[in-house]
Amino acid sequence: ADEPLVLGIETSCDETGVGIVRGHTLLADALASSVDQHARFGGVVPEVASRAHLEALVPTMQRALDEAKVTLADIDAIAVTSGPGLAGALLVGVAAAKGYALAADKPIYGVNHLAAHVAVDTLEHGPLPEPAVAMLVSGGHSSLLLVDDLTNGVTPLGATIDDAAGEAFDKVARLLGLGFPGGPVIDRTAKEGDPASIGFPRGLTAPKDLAAHRFDFSFSGLKTAVARWVEARERAGEPVPIADVSASFQEAVCDVLTAKAIEACRVNGVRTLVIGGGVAANSRLRALAEERAAKHGIEVRVPRPALCTDNGAMVAALGSRLVAAGVAPSRLDLPADSVMPL
Ligand code: KG4
Ligand code: ZN
Repeated sequence: ADEPLVLGIETSCDETGVGIVRGHTLLADALASSVDQHARFGGVVPEVASRAHLEALVPTMQRALDEAKVTLADIDAIAVTSGPGLAGALLVGVAAAKGYALAADKPIYGVNHLAAHVAVDTLEHGPLPEPAVAMLVSGGHSSLLLVDDLTNGVTPLGATIDDAAGEAFDKVARLLGLGFPGGPVIDRTAKEGDPASIGFPRGLTAPKDLAAHRFDFSFSGLKTAVARWVEARERAGEPVPIADVSASFQEAVCDVLTAKAIEACRVNGVRTLVIGGGVAANSRLRALAEERAAKHGIEVRVPRPALCTDNGAMVAALGSRLVAAGVAPSRLDLPADSVMPL
């Protein structure tokens, strides 16, 4: 018999995503983004995002079904991001999923957005060897997780104590006048610069910090250091070397992220590191992780960039794992939880 056909709905931030998966195979991944509507504010505006989801959801759903050449009746289960994320944005997806589940008499699975970022890798690289360490780096999160069993929750090892990694990219891009979202543009700009030209701080790596924050991150001091450096240049009437600043900032972020991720693998005896979230699309992060992991015999799994940022496929991927593991569906009154723990 065919493996179950699972549809996933994602609306936790500014991307409306509907993905369809059979087993580990991606059949459709339809996406609508309100990112352009937030650009002039330099960050996602929750009310604008919710409204955009409401407009985009039904057409995105239809595009996904068309792409997979199936109808709602063919779907075996509906998974939806129920948290964490923007409350109003989550509510649109959860309410829609309930509507579809009720109308078509399908089981519904409320899933954790972070676990879904980990699960999406299975669509590209097949079953995840467990235990694994997952590093999730996005606009809202920077976490290291121990994954013993993806379908049974994951254990947090550490997280950012202030800004998320993607948030740092966005804020630094903004102060350099590079636009929003900052990650992709800094990634491009950095290719023309020297990553060793400016020694920006590596947060929470000093011996005194490591005692309490071995697997935690801090990027707010780095952001401030970049701002001070740029201000000093401007005050001196000297041009700001945008490419060198971008490259040196990016190097500081990627250095800390990869060092702590590899260390987390080593102390937990784990041989697989999976990286997800929007910042996992970063070319330097991918290269440095590979280079450092290879020295310790650790395999790095990073899905292709389109699967790293928010999408419906990741939700369908986790839903597919839950169905395959025989996990009971959620109740139809499942809530949206903006601060859902892992
Ligand atoms: O996972 P995601 O799409 O949404 C959240 O759940 O936050 O991540 C978006 C974040 C943004 O901060 C964006 O600047 C960052 O991911 N990002 C990148 C790159 N592409 C996207 N950061 C660094 N390098 C990139 N190439
Ligand atoms: Zn995300």
